Amino acid sequence: MSGSNPRSLKGRIFSGIQPTGNLHLGNYIGAIRNWVAMQKDYECLFCVVDLHAITVWQDPAALRRATREVAAGMIASGVDPENNILFVQSHVSGHAELAWVFNCVARLGWLNRMTQFKDKAGKNRENASAGLYVYPNLMAADILLYKGTHVPVGEDQKQHVELARDIAQKFNNDAGVNLFPLPEPVIQGVGTRVMSLRDGSRKMSKSEPSEFGVIYMTDTAEAIRDKIKRATTDPNLLPDSVAGLEGRAEAANLLSIYAALTGRTLEQVVAETAGQQFSQFKAILADAAVAVLGPINAEMKRLMDHPDEIDRFLKRGAEKARDLAAPVLKEVYDAIGFLPRT
Ligand code: TYM
Repeated sequence: MSGSNPRSLKGRIFSGIQPTGNLHLGNYIGAIRNWVAMQKDYECLFCVVDLHAITVWQDPAALRRATREVAAGMIASGVDPENNILFVQSHVSGHAELAWVFNCVARLGWLNRMTQFKDKAGKNRENASAGLYVYPNLMAADILLYKGTHVPVGEDQKQHVELARDIAQKFNNDAGVNLFPLPEPVIQGVGTRVMSLRDGSRKMSKSEPSEFGVIYMTDTAEAIRDKIKRATTDPNLLPDSVAGLEGRAEAANLLSIYAALTGRTLEQVVAETAGQQFSQFKAILADAAVAVLGPINAEMKRLMDHPDEIDRFLKRGAEKARDLAAPVLKEVYDAIGFLPRT
């Protein structure tokens, strides 16, 4: 890490988003928003993880579009593509190379404990791709190829980052080196787990069964208002304390979203909305969502109309990422005992 770069003082961030379907409010609140806040203090690599996306079938044209759209979403949200490294995973071959090494480090028992594989493979486990199974090894490679120290993600990725720590530690022990740092998951603020607007027990995700459960970053103001209006609630007024949210998953979710979008704590927004009816609160929440997502949406559209601009940032990002990755991969290969390339 360059000692002259003041942003490297607190460490090096790696985080990524899969280009599968549209970006949604969970991605924004759980991940991108935090990246924007942290980018001043860390050296950052932000990645569109297309290798991860193909662990389940992707239509090629849709994958190309989604890859640019995720990059556009990051930039439109305030990720600075000049001062951070913003790139596409498949453009840096070191990710796939290090993932192979980690396939040989991670134990089957570790992978068998991954809840995301169980969720995604579902009942038809035999028919899941081998890539889906070793997905967390590739994720560890993403982070460790750059000796990443901090990984800002939503709650659902915690187990994967913990596996990356186990892999780093086992590699270091087995090879008798101190090559990899143990990366820390950074899961902070309200909204680390944004839930579906239709069902407060289900995570907001691209695979949400109801289109009204997910707010997409590409949604129009009208669509955002409509989805919030239709959000599931309960018959009571909003509580006057955070403790009053116990057993009220939908209310807790909407208030957390409101807190995240307005940059306040849950306590603060509970104090503001105490005793309100949901209809009243939903109007305020919709205004806040439109105020935040409206300009992001407009800038995403502008960028998607200028794909060359996105591609230029991604090309430059890949060049910078390759420069950082090459010496680390060399160190890894030396530690393993591979002959140096001549
Ligand atoms: P992905 O593409 O599913 O999600 C991207 C980011 O958004 C967060 N997120 C959420 N946060 C709060 N509430 C939600 N409902 C919600 N849904 C998604 C995710 O936690 C994530 O931070 N495996 C990763 C991508 C990845 C990665 C990496 C991340 C690949 N390599 C290395 C960090 C470091 C994934 O599928 O994220």
